[in-house]
Amino acid sequence: MPDVTPLPAALPQRMGSNAGQPLTRQDGLLKVTGRATYAADNHPEGLLHAVYVPATIARGRVTRLDVAAAKAHPGVVEVLTPANRPPLAQDPDDKPSMFSIRVEVLTPANRPPLAQDPDDKPSMFSIRVEVLTPANRPPLAQDPDDKPSMFSIRVEVLQDDSVRYAGQPIALVVAETLEAASEGARLLAPRYEAEPPRTGIELEPYEIGGVGFGMPPKIEKGDVAAGLSAAAQRVETVCDTPAQYHNAMEPHALVAQWDGDRLTLDMPNQAPVLASAGFANWFGIPAENVLIRCPFLGGGFGSKAVINGPQILTALAARTLGRPVKLALTRRQMFGPVGHRGQTRQWLKLGLDGTGKLTALSHHTRAVTASFDEFIEGASAPSRMTYASPAISTTHDGVRNDVGMPGAMRAPGEASGSAALEVAMDIAAEAADMDPLDFRLANYAETDPMSGLPYSSKALRECYAEGARAFGWAGRPRTARQMRDDAGMLVGWGMGTATFPCPMFAAEARATLRADGTALVETSLIDMGQGAWTAFAQIAADALGLDVAQVVLRGGASDLPDAGVAGGSGHTATAGLAIENAGGDTIRQLAEIAAADPNSPLHGTGNEGVVARGGRLYAAGDDSRSESYAEILARAGREALSGQGKGGRDPAAAQAHAMQSHGAVFAEVKVDPELGQIRVSRLVGAFAAGRIINPRMAESQLLGGMIWGASFALHEGAETDPRSGRILNADFGEYHVPVNADIPSARVLLIHEDDPHVNPLGVKGVGEIGISGTAGAIANAIWHATGVRVRRYPVRLEELA
Ligand code: MOS
Repeated sequence: MPDVTPLPAALPQRMGSNAGQPLTRQDGLLKVTGRATYAADNHPEGLLHAVYVPATIARGRVTRLDVAAAKAHPGVVEVLTPANRPPLAQDPDDKPSMFSIRVEVLTPANRPPLAQDPDDKPSMFSIRVEVLTPANRPPLAQDPDDKPSMFSIRVEVLQDDSVRYAGQPIALVVAETLEAASEGARLLAPRYEAEPPRTGIELEPYEIGGVGFGMPPKIEKGDVAAGLSAAAQRVETVCDTPAQYHNAMEPHALVAQWDGDRLTLDMPNQAPVLASAGFANWFGIPAENVLIRCPFLGGGFGSKAVINGPQILTALAARTLGRPVKLALTRRQMFGPVGHRGQTRQWLKLGLDGTGKLTALSHHTRAVTASFDEFIEGASAPSRMTYASPAISTTHDGVRNDVGMPGAMRAPGEASGSAALEVAMDIAAEAADMDPLDFRLANYAETDPMSGLPYSSKALRECYAEGARAFGWAGRPRTARQMRDDAGMLVGWGMGTATFPCPMFAAEARATLRADGTALVETSLIDMGQGAWTAFAQIAADALGLDVAQVVLRGGASDLPDAGVAGGSGHTATAGLAIENAGGDTIRQLAEIAAADPNSPLHGTGNEGVVARGGRLYAAGDDSRSESYAEILARAGREALSGQGKGGRDPAAAQAHAMQSHGAVFAEVKVDPELGQIRVSRLVGAFAAGRIINPRMAESQLLGGMIWGASFALHEGAETDPRSGRILNADFGEYHVPVNADIPSARVLLIHEDDPHVNPLGVKGVGEIGISGTAGAIANAIWHATGVRVRRYPVRLEELA
């Protein structure tokens, strides 16, 4: 919810040049020398090890577990099953639960007024937040009561003996050693009463309640039917995208320890303050009794924004046994209870007038969700934020499978949706006999396609131009199968538009100037590996008029001011603004002390009359009058001086502007004409995402996103056995992700963009946009090489036969 502290009018000017520098990771040395402590690296005294048993059927009941055999194994301490599992304060009933964004906004009775209350105007996500309106919100499976819920993800905590998907935890074995726990889990030898699993997207669809985290299933403008029937040409496509499973470098792990009714959790999480409230809820203790420590994460990508069932069971086991318990998921266990990108089928219809302009755009997504809860991949979303069209329809429905809950995975909605939309646009360009880039320029959205609002900034034209130049797009043959390399490989070039919203959440930070003139900045910031720590240090240093070496950041724990969620590509903007405001508040107080002190050279200057720079306050325009922070504090007899700040979107700005990051991705592929083997040989992405705090980190983020886009196009996809409902390739041997040899050349261009509206820092976000547009660009390059249109991802060589 927007909650902003405006900068005080009389704020001292702060000078710094830390932001904008390509600093290396502040935590890099710790990581490459193995001194960074990840959750599973914690070994408290008396530690027990937990291993959970994943169901090997996808639907049915557990009829027998050989608990006696497991317990008889030396070292096994306890076996939790539905039969003996102690109660939880928030036991699952028919309602899904868990995950913990502040649910107050959903409750008519307790929701504070928002500056931007939903009306017909788009919100910060560029669409109407209908779920926030008491009058029109459809019922949710878990309507808010007095318990926080959040994104309504149901978790499995041994609440009964039913099996809802293969991989679901059906028992937890706790032992003195990992080996004993593993053997105990094996000895449980479950037996089942199995029912035929429901798998695949072909099953009967149903009308869904909401998309993603509660967005409306259907968003439309104009008359699509009329636009299609009036069109000179029509293009229709169907595109399938697979289920992709979270496989961050660090699989989920946690160490849970209790001290009375206080719970300490070492676990990776993208929103530790929210997660601590979630755990408090499950165990019926105050939120301040839960401490989550997550100084380092080996990737998150959305799966660590939520709490999952195995984590709750491990904390429960630790409480029951009165000893610390560790759980570390295996790679195979990542394919189940920790979320995944849901499978989709997407239907697109485009109408074109005689000049290659869209007359209508219709995008329908069918998404697979679990049998017991709903998370619908919002893949139609890119069709309302990318191209201009007088009529746009974006709709979704769902299909229930016996599968683990889908959830957020890097660029949820946009990744799968742009993969389909960009192929449809390429087919349309071919139909219009236009160059794909010219066709996109002909349909350039000068204002937000749905709301008509002006953009806060949009340098997409520059992205197209710079990306095309760097790639060498000019001179591309219009038709397919025109280019070969020296080795006789078919060569193709394709492109796609990248888009991602730039939401902000709510964050708080505290800055403390210390007697020696250095500063401590505190907020529950999360560095998943993306370099957030470093970017925040740069923002903090500039906010305090210090060098980055003089600032100590404390983050990665739930007992700090709430930095919100490291997700939605909004962490740098949101927590960064809180830090900026905390620094400003601190320097304002310092300037007041100096200005009021007759013994200070700055006496009488006032806040507006000083400049903070290099650890000193200067009288504006008179460098001969200055004093160091340490001197000011010492004379005032202060050991320290603290300021507070908040970060969030200014609601007025959100009502006046559409806010998006943009980019253009160009791809070259080489295809063996005999074997159909496909290689991405070159990728160039040009991105405009507002002010870039650290170009090295931003480039790395965008590169990582593009590589995931290549993975989406050619490599990743879970294969489910329709007979058993089990995932056939639940390991890195067969669930393919790109390696260095798969990405021989990839280049990122950062396109300059000043954005005075998005937030006072001018920062948009770079976490997710790199994946959007890339898969489509590669698919279009495959068509250009071979003449074969991509209908399903990942593209495999048999499709080209
Ligand atoms: Mo992300 S999928 O917003 O962690």
